[in-house]
Amino acid sequence: MRVLLATLAVLAVATTAIEADSKARIVCYFSNWAVYRPGVGRYGIEDIPVDMCTHIIYSFIGVTEKSNEVLIIDPELDVEKSGFRNFTALRKSHPDVKFMVAVGGWAEGGSKYSHMVAQKQTRMSFIRSVVDFLKKYDFDGLDLDWEYPGAADRGGSFSDKDRFLYLVQELKRAFFRAGRGWELTAAVPLANFRLMEGYHVPDLCQELDAIHVMSYDLRGNWAGFADVHSPLYKRPHDQWAYEKLNVNDGLALWEEKGCPSNKLVVGIPFYGRSFTLSAGNNNYGLGTYINKEAGGGDPAPYTNATGFWAYYEICTEVDKDGSGWTKKWDEQGKCPYAYKGTQWVGYEDPRSVEIKMNWIKQKGYLGAMTWAIDMDDFKGLCGDENPLMKLLHKHMSSYTVPPPRTGNTTPTPEWARPPSTPSDSSEGAPIPTTTAKPTTTARPTTAKPSTTKAPQVSIDEDDNDIAVRPEPPKAPEAPEETAEVEVPEAPEHPTENEVDNPDICNSEEDYVADKKKCDKYWRCVNGEGVQFTCQPGTVFNIKLNVCDWPDNANRDDCQP
Ligand SMILES: *[C@@H]1O[C@H](CO)[C@@H](O)[C@H](O)[C@H]1NC(C)=O
Ligand SMILES: *[C@@H]1O[C@H](CO)[C@@H](O)[C@H](O)[C@H]1NC(C)=O
Repeated sequence: MRVLLATLAVLAVATTAIEADSKARIVCYFSNWAVYRPGVGRYGIEDIPVDMCTHIIYSFIGVTEKSNEVLIIDPELDVEKSGFRNFTALRKSHPDVKFMVAVGGWAEGGSKYSHMVAQKQTRMSFIRSVVDFLKKYDFDGLDLDWEYPGAADRGGSFSDKDRFLYLVQELKRAFFRAGRGWELTAAVPLANFRLMEGYHVPDLCQELDAIHVMSYDLRGNWAGFADVHSPLYKRPHDQWAYEKLNVNDGLALWEEKGCPSNKLVVGIPFYGRSFTLSAGNNNYGLGTYINKEAGGGDPAPYTNATGFWAYYEICTEVDKDGSGWTKKWDEQGKCPYAYKGTQWVGYEDPRSVEIKMNWIKQKGYLGAMTWAIDMDDFKGLCGDENPLMKLLHKHMSSYTVPPPRTGNTTPTPEWARPPSTPSDSSEGAPIPTTTAKPTTTARPTTAKPSTTKAPQVSIDEDDNDIAVRPEPPKAPEAPEETAEVEVPEAPEHPTENEVDNPDICNSEEDYVADKKKCDKYWRCVNGEGVQFTCQPGTVFNIKLNVCDWPDNANRDDCQP
């Protein structure tokens, strides 16, 4: 009898896994604070286009400083006014949609998370509190939005990389024990140095139900020039740190590092990054000079933030006849940009979104994600309501995700493999083994035990957990930073030039010319001074912070 039950259960698991895996995801982040935007910008739970999403993620909850538990950031809105419960109650009319909650986000900083993952005991406090929270408010899962593990510039430490994986493994086991089919996903960056310092890619991709790649904010005021922030491909002016900082190369990097294509969800920004150009600058091309001190373009009426405009704030200006805006198209990056006077914005519109949707299908990724649904033209101020969301839905709902491609991953060297944490009695009852951990990176099977009611086969040992490898050699912990300052995406580490230069990281400047060599300059990368070298024949131009011809740069202060 037991054998029969187990067989039936296994068959059921296999069928659901195949169905679930072939259906593309449309992941909609919802920012709870959008309800405070004035006038037509106000966006509440009732505005969510539930039909057009497969997953909706309430953003954000946080983590408490000392007790390492779930922190409710806006208790009045989320609890007293029933934000959480109203949100998950949408399931009654939409039983197939997953209603999740995101923990973290940029404003939460990184140091509390680094602290929370530091010990098994503190991780367990968090995990228990998450389980209670999901039960209490009836969510379907958790999305981890820690920005970012291992980021010294955000209060992280070197050890975060292993510990973040432990957290994921332990959450996964706790969710399995809870037996409610909760999903576990994460929002992740795509810059190589971020992945190196904080993400065990193959292991995370195996554990998590989906990876939400934040393929936006790749440029912004912090970069020191005007540009679109979600270019699909490399453009001619993308040099150095920016060469691979585009959507196509970023997603390819996740695959190269060992993430199956059918776990990757591509982020689409429903907002633009805006800039204030230098006074008297008549060059409006991509990469043009900005007045960096302005902090970005002027605040727009609804989102009221410098350097950040919702799509509906852009289309109402740019697409209006006689508004004086000039609209252009980035031919290689496949994104629109627009300018008027000193104001410049790079963004996404129906044309660029449609190109990205076709590209997702061509690449066989798991689907599309948006930050955030409350910035689409949901009131139809420029035409049809929710024009961008409708494109995500049109393309993703009619698309079947193919099995992952194999052979394009680089195997993780032994020294880079993480240890895993064994399950112990502090977590609860042992978990029956339902999957064997594949040892190669090519994974023909996509069966996911945790998302389905797994068969209760009695096996006492948790094989997943007993393969404890020795810890990899550890570098000293990076210094903890306490201040949470907005730090830009820093360029990749040019390791061969890595020299300690404490000055640059204490200076206000983003670029500092080398004192001796004209063709060298410094930047602060993750709290460390890193020396960069200009292309042969060029020298560093102090005025423009670029590598330039010696005649333009006027450098008499250094050796050529
Ligand atoms: C939740 O729903 C109730 C009843 O419709 C409403 O009064 C309340 O304002 C809603 N809360 C939020 C945050 O939307
Ligand atoms: C916009 O933000 C500024 C501060 O950043 C604040 O003083 C102002 O009241 C806000 N305006 C609106 C309309 O919310």
